[in-house]
Amino acid sequence: MKEYKRVTTNTLLEMKNRNEKISMLTAYDYSMAKIIDKSGIDIILVGDSASNVMAGHETTLPITLDQMIYHASSVIRGVKRSLVVVDLPFGSYQSDPKEALRSAIRIMKESGAHAVKMEGGREIQESIIKILNAGIPVMGHLGLTPQSIYKFGTYSVRAKEEEEAKLLLEDAKLLDKLGCFGIVLEKIPAKVSKKVTNSVSVPIIGIGAGSDVDGQVLVTHDLVGLNSEFNPRFLRRYVNLDEIMTNAIQSYIKDVKSLDFPNKDEQY
Ligand code: KIV
Repeated sequence: MKEYKRVTTNTLLEMKNRNEKISMLTAYDYSMAKIIDKSGIDIILVGDSASNVMAGHETTLPITLDQMIYHASSVIRGVKRSLVVVDLPFGSYQSDPKEALRSAIRIMKESGAHAVKMEGGREIQESIIKILNAGIPVMGHLGLTPQSIYKFGTYSVRAKEEEEAKLLLEDAKLLDKLGCFGIVLEKIPAKVSKKVTNSVSVPIIGIGAGSDVDGQVLVTHDLVGLNSEFNPRFLRRYVNLDEIMTNAIQSYIKDVKSLDFPNKDEQY
């Protein structure tokens, strides 16, 4: 049987230190996770973007802890090598540190995931400490934090103003000091993320945060063209699966209707 060298939080730190870029993508189900893992990705994120791309909600707010655990356990069954990080969903950690720890423990215990991700900085530091003290690795998420969309009012670029960029840098230093193993920076100016990357010891993974970071993350559905309505500037679409699948399905419908499928070799 082939031996896989598992990616750990230490692997990621070593990669930052030797200047090797880290790759990260989302997955929410077994089949997709299997393909992404065997392709050689470093981190798989079971993102709460499942709320958008899997369930069709407008925001990430409705997805529940039980639903995240269902997605995460499906992903885990398809993964041999990558580090699997799971988003703590909105409402599962903001009210108090004890609830945050209970939510993180449920994710780790019931899905078999390797780490959790949480949106926010100083305002959730007590919860981060509590989770870290239980031995659960935590990834931070700063900049555009979609769980706070109704506070921001828009999905536009964050930390363009000096004051917000300063607060973001302080939050990143705090997460580093607390012991988070990495931080996602979403949709902020490239010069701000470069400064953050050079100011902290842990890997910074960007999405819409430019190239001067330690790694990149995208939502897989966006990268493979399964979400064609979403076209932000930061997205590179590598294949148009929407078109490929539509053509395949239309061919199937045509073959069924014309009695071409199934043929003699396709029956018992
Ligand atoms: O939920 C998600 O997919 C994310 C990424 C956009 C980083 O948090």
